[in-house]
Amino acid sequence: MKRIFSGVQPTGNLHLGNYLGAIRNWVQLQADFDCIFCIVDLHALTTPQDPATLRAQTREVTAAYIASGIDAERCIIFNQSMVAGHSELAWLLSCLTPLGWLNRMTQFKEKAGKQKDNAGLGLYAYPVLMAADILLYKATHVPVGDDQKQHLELARDIAGAFNRQFNVDYFPLPEPQIFGAATRVMSLRDGTKKMSKSDLSDYSRINMTDDADTVAQKIKKAKTDTEPLPESLAGLEARPDAANLLGIYAALAGIAQEAAVIRFAGAAFSAFKAELVDLAVSVLGPIGAEMKRLMREPAYVDAVLRRGAERAGEISRHHLSEIHTILGLLRP
Ligand code: TYM
Repeated sequence: MKRIFSGVQPTGNLHLGNYLGAIRNWVQLQADFDCIFCIVDLHALTTPQDPATLRAQTREVTAAYIASGIDAERCIIFNQSMVAGHSELAWLLSCLTPLGWLNRMTQFKEKAGKQKDNAGLGLYAYPVLMAADILLYKATHVPVGDDQKQHLELARDIAGAFNRQFNVDYFPLPEPQIFGAATRVMSLRDGTKKMSKSDLSDYSRINMTDDADTVAQKIKKAKTDTEPLPESLAGLEARPDAANLLGIYAALAGIAQEAAVIRFAGAAFSAFKAELVDLAVSVLGPIGAEMKRLMREPAYVDAVLRRGAERAGEISRHHLSEIHTILGLLRP
C-alpha cells in the first residue's frame, strides 16, 4: 500500500514556498495515494505561541489545504494534538535515537542560534516527533520542500534502527518526494535565503492570503540585479534573485525553469515582473479568497479536523498496539 503523510506547522504567514514546495504537490498526489495531511500543532509549540493565535493559525492551515484543492473526504486532514499517538510514538522512538544523530540536524542549529543551552528539549527532539508522525501511519512517501530532506533521512534511519533492533520488517522506510520547479523558494529580498514564515520583513514573502495589490507591490519591490534576463539557464548562475523569480514563474505556470528562461530571454525585469504579477494573482487569488471564506466558517473547519482525527486515531491505535507488542510493553 502506498500512503502519504505530510504536514505544515500552524505558525502563521503561510507563503508561496509552502504552497509550491508542498501543498500544491499534495493536491496532485491525492489521486494515487492514500493521503494523510496534518496540521502539526505540537511542532509549533517548539517555539513560543500565543494560544488564541495558535488556534486561529491551525484553522488557517486547514483552510489552506481545502482551498488549495485537497479533498477532505478522500484524504484525512487533522491536527496533530488530536491524536495522542504522535506524542507517544515520539517517546518510544526517542529511546532508540542516538543523540549523535540529533546533533547533526542543521535546522536545530539554525533555530537554537548561539543560545543553545536555552533552547527547549522539544526543539531538539523536533525531528523525532516528525519521524513519529510519519511512522505512526507507516507512511511510504512524504512530499515536502527541500528544507525537510535531512529530517526525512533521520526518519528513515530511525525506522531502520527499529526494524533492526527488534528483528522485524515493521516500518517501511519513508521515501521523500521533493519535486516540482520550486522545491526551495527563496526570499524576495535576498535570493540566497529561504522564503520563510519567520522572516521579519513581510516583503520577503508572498503570503497565501495576500490580496492582488499586495502581491503586485511585493513583486515590484523584489530584489533584482541590473542585467536583463539571461538567454539560457547557465546565465542564471551567480544571479540568485533572477533565478528565484524565474523559478517562481515556472512553478506557477507549470513549466520547467528552462522554458521560463526561454520565454523571457533578454527581457527587462520590469516587463517580466508585470507578467509574474498577473500569473501570481491568477493562481493565488482564488485560493486566498476561498481561505478567507473558510476562516469565516470555523464550525465547518473544526468538523473537518474532528472527522480527520477520528480516522487518523483509528489507524494510530491499531499500529501502536502492534508496536507495543514488538517492544514488549504488556497489554493485559
Ligand atoms: P513547515 O511548516 O516549515 O513547512 C511546510 C512545508 O513547506 C515547505 N517549505 C518550502 N518549500 C519550498 N520553499 C520554501 N521556501 C519553503 N518553506 C517551507 C516545507 O519543506 C514543508 O514541506 N517539519 C515540517 C512539518 C512536519 C512534517 C512532518 C512534514 C512535521 N511533521 C511529517 C512532513 C512529514 C515543517 O516544519 O514544515
